[in-house]
Parts: sequence; C-alpha cells; structure tokens
Amino acid sequence: MARILVSGPLPGPDLARLSRAHDVEIGPDPRGLGRAGLLERLGEHDALIPFVTDVVDRGVLDRGPRLRVVANCGVGVDNIDLGACREREIVVTNTPEVLTDATADATLGLILDACRGLTAGDRVVRAGGWKGWAPTQFIGARVTGATLGIVGLGRIGQAVAVRARGFSMRVRYTQRTRLSAAREAELGVTYGELEELFATSDIVCLCCPLTPETRGLVSRERLARMKQGSVLVNTSRGPCVDEEALAEALRTGHLFAAGLDVYAEEPKIAAALLACDNVVLAPHLGSADRPTREAMARICVEAALSVLDGREPPTRVA
Ligand code: DGY
Repeated sequence: MARILVSGPLPGPDLARLSRAHDVEIGPDPRGLGRAGLLERLGEHDALIPFVTDVVDRGVLDRGPRLRVVANCGVGVDNIDLGACREREIVVTNTPEVLTDATADATLGLILDACRGLTAGDRVVRAGGWKGWAPTQFIGARVTGATLGIVGLGRIGQAVAVRARGFSMRVRYTQRTRLSAAREAELGVTYGELEELFATSDIVCLCCPLTPETRGLVSRERLARMKQGSVLVNTSRGPCVDEEALAEALRTGHLFAAGLDVYAEEPKIAAALLACDNVVLAPHLGSADRPTREAMARICVEAALSVLDGREPPTRVA
C-alpha cells in the first residue's frame, strides 16, 4: 500500500477508489494545502496530487524524499519545478484535453460578457438602478464579426477559435510554432506576429501557458498598442498581464473592457482592478463544469496509480 497526499477534496468517485487501494491523506481545505500546507504535511509519501495553486518547488520536494509522482490536478504546470522533479526522477503529469471545451466555453463567456456588459448590467439591476430601456443605455462592443487575436493556439486556443467562427469573427493567432497551412485553413485562422496582433485585434485573448516568455506579455507598452476601445480576455495565467497597467487602460477608456479568470496573486485581486466597472472578474473557473472537473480528478488519480504500478502515465509532462 502506497502513501498518497492529495491537496484537497476532488469531485467524483475516483478519490474514494484511490482511498480503497492506498493510504490516502486528503488536505482539509477545498482550496488545497498551498505551499505552506505541503511543507507541513509532506513526508514519507510516494505520490502527491497537488492543485494548480500549490507551489511545488525544491523546498517542498525536499520534504518528500520518497515521492515518485506529482500528478497535478490541472493542465498548467507552472506551479511545479519540473527541472527539480527531473533531477529527482519524479514523474510529473497533468490533465490536458479534458478541460479544453470547458475552458474555451468560459473564454467565450468572458468575451461576450466583457463586450456586452452582462455582469455590469446585472449589478445595476440588483442595485435597483435600472429604470427602463433607453436607446443610449448599456451600449457594448460588437462581438459578431470582430477581429479576435488569440495568443497561444494550443488545444484551448483552437477550441476558442472554433467557437469564435460561430460569431463570424475574423480569427488571428500568434504562437512560437506556426500551425500547418492545412490546419490553419481547417480552423479558419490566420497567423500574425505578436505586435501586429495586439495592434489590429478588437479582442485579444490569452490562451497561452505561463512561461518565462509569456510572463508580463501584456505589458503597459503592449496595452498602449492595442486598438482604442478594444477588449482583453485572459483565461491562461494571471502573471501574463501587468494588472496595474491593465487597470489604467480600463480606467482611461483606452480599453473598452476586459474579462479575467486568472490573477497574478490569486485569490488576491488588485485593488485597481476591483475599482474598474468595465472588467469582468471571474474566480478561476475556466475548467469548472462537472464532467470536466470529475475527469480531471480521474486523470490525476489514474496517473498516480500508473506510476505506482510501474506503468507509463499517458499525461506525463516530465
Ligand atoms: C489548469 O488546469 O491549468 C486550470 O488553470 C485549472 O483548471
């Protein structure tokens, strides 16, 4: 029987299945143990199932000398020191594919909400401030036919592109490796350089992983280059965006609106952003539909079991 530390409760039946087969310790907080909790609890465990919000760095890994697998409950692995895991021959896995549709759905939701002010309108209604229809009221940005610039056309970016075509959007993308011409044609997307994408898109949408290259990608300078009245949507990772600069661009009206699901220091939201009415602030819920979250739980449980059984896990990243 192996010892497994799970950062917190997971939805669906798979954690119970794991607990029947192994000695499983589950963190008490639904938001996970966090780095401090991992430092406190990790010991003679063979496997760790962290959340994407748990920092798994050298300090944490040092506490788990027996660890053979870190099965991240999420697709992004920027919370894990992959190099340190490789050095220690610890397998790292993630949960790709199963969350593509849910995250793309939420991205479209943020695009629609930021452009059309649904949440902002809801706030007015609930506060009793809506006194009746007026032709000058709640005028949003046009979604249908807009030029959408996607930064990072991986699985999620491609799923966003497919949905955007349903709104007759002109979809452009940028990323390190260009897709084949056949795939571009299939998706109905065209490639552009990053700077050009920022300068020409009505909506810029981040679907990229957090890497040294994408950290701070939406800088003050790039925001300044965005079209007057354009919209920024981020469902990737908070540190890709300079939040203070974004808040300023929203305050001055240079940007019409923004839709964010992720933040630089979650769950802290920059006061400057909270002060802006024209930003939709979602609580990192991109992958949160029931089938997706249950599938994520299943995949990380199966990945941990594979490694413990000496099998190669299908979703290995390191
Ligand atoms: C991920 O998987 O990386 C998301 O941020 C959470 O689902």
